[in-house]
Amino acid sequence: MASKRVYLETFGCQMNELDSELVAGRLASLGYAFTSKASEADVVLYNTCSVREQAEQKVWSRLGELREQKADKPGMVVGVLGCMAERDGKGLMDRMPVVDVMCGPGELDKLPALLDNAVRTRESLVADDPNAAVKSVKAVALQGSTSRRSATLAAAEDSLEYLDLSRSVSPIDPVGSLRKSAYVRITRGCNKFCTYCVVPFTRGAEIHRPPAHIVDECQRLADQGVIEITLLGQTVNHYRFEHEAATIAGGVTQPQKGRAFKGGHKRDPLTGERVTTFADLLYEIHEKAPGIQRLRFVTSYPRDFGDDVLEVIRDCPRICRYLHVPAQTGSDRMLKMMNRGYTAQEYDEFVARAREHLHQPEIGRPLMISGDIIVGFPTETDEDFAQTVSLLERSRYKSCFIFKYSPRPGTVAYDKIPDDVPEAVKRVRNNELLAVQNRISDEVSREQVGCVYDILIEGPSQKAIKAAGLSGKQAKKASGGVQLTIGGRSADETDDLSVTAVLERTDSETVQFSGRTDGDQIVMFDADVAEAKALPGQIRRVRITEGSGLTLFGELV
Ligand code: 5AD
Ligand code: SF4
Repeated sequence: MASKRVYLETFGCQMNELDSELVAGRLASLGYAFTSKASEADVVLYNTCSVREQAEQKVWSRLGELREQKADKPGMVVGVLGCMAERDGKGLMDRMPVVDVMCGPGELDKLPALLDNAVRTRESLVADDPNAAVKSVKAVALQGSTSRRSATLAAAEDSLEYLDLSRSVSPIDPVGSLRKSAYVRITRGCNKFCTYCVVPFTRGAEIHRPPAHIVDECQRLADQGVIEITLLGQTVNHYRFEHEAATIAGGVTQPQKGRAFKGGHKRDPLTGERVTTFADLLYEIHEKAPGIQRLRFVTSYPRDFGDDVLEVIRDCPRICRYLHVPAQTGSDRMLKMMNRGYTAQEYDEFVARAREHLHQPEIGRPLMISGDIIVGFPTETDEDFAQTVSLLERSRYKSCFIFKYSPRPGTVAYDKIPDDVPEAVKRVRNNELLAVQNRISDEVSREQVGCVYDILIEGPSQKAIKAAGLSGKQAKKASGGVQLTIGGRSADETDDLSVTAVLERTDSETVQFSGRTDGDQIVMFDADVAEAKALPGQIRRVRITEGSGLTLFGELV
């Protein structure tokens, strides 16, 4: 087994990136090696996303390409992990017999066993059958659309928790000590059932990890040199752990089902009382893992966001002044049809309250907010759309993801509301919103000129990478100072990483670097070649000299 090489590619969101990392860690500790080339792999894994059809299409075309490769190498094992596996179920295998393994996002703890089984089965299949290449060995672990995982959670052990826990104890981290930035999961799944969204079906019911596990994970990451942590959850601000209701199985405190949000409870940090709220959790991580110089969280739900959380952010210097709070639309009628549970006015009130607590440019700590918008939700009129434009104008995000509505089978909107906004209209609205947001981002960037910010340095900028004549995969590697693609990074490749490759190919005396502010704005600055090597992962002070689009430019001070 030790010689099997895995190619793992990740599609979609940060939650998937984390899942891939945890899976890679587990597989590495079991003796699998990793490769960055699918063509060299014995095991090809795609960790997939189902949020929009486009994301699924990419995976279909990748799987199509693998068919030929497998014909030459019938022992190769192909696995589809994540939301697409969960959503399409075995139908995916029927359509693509190249796929041997399917594993839903709620079952990833079972992946090592599935893979082991599939690798062995393929080996014996290939030995006996000349047509082996076209036969799937069908190793499958899915939650199944009818049993949301939580149905069994109350009584049973939540074995998925061990996947997150395994990170802390895994002796081998395939990403290595270079890592300065990491994700930590606090909740899984979602109970909101927005009518367009597939997540509650693919990732199952919301569960909250025990705070001790989360804090411990943050401390261990800090001990390994991580200085920036992003806490992940579909609706992070709903985090709440009731200690009296905690269950223990196999000596391990189990994650807890999300309950109806109860706001307004007293903060009682560090003493292990009845309830750990999201505010408590943030405070506890801040206090107990001081090595973490930047603590962020995504994604926040615009409802149920208490002042207690805002106060903790305000009072804790290492918690970032950055919120990602999707509004989705500015039309109350659309919000209702989307089942979002708030009005545009309530959204505005939240943004105003957040700014009131957290926007302090005078001490160098402005609040930066980003959002998500869906255009072309069924029945969206010009008037609805105008209200979204207006919300964008009012919110003044530093940046915003804008998506065209994509009907997802299994969701309420797909079943009940015809997708009646023509593609051409969606495109026009999408472009118009992009233009509005670009102007706002540009204005927000310009407002930062003259300010002095601490930035976490990532690595050479894209421009520097291009100027050095690096391209494609090399460039990806070179920019990998902080952000990581697991898609097979092996230890011997790390030397080639980041700065070295660029410096070797540059004759000028400075190299352009990029970093990010605590509000998650990108900053470009020139660094002397002499000190360039030591920069990635450092936090340095920069004066902003220019702002344009999404990018700030500055100089080290
Ligand atoms: N169509 C388009 N965008 C979607 N999103 C979620 N579901 C859909 C869909 N069916 C967007 C939302 C969400 C982000 C992660 O993806 O804006 O916040
Ligand atoms: Fe989907 Fe809504 Fe849950 Fe976000 S909050 S994951 S959009 S159901």
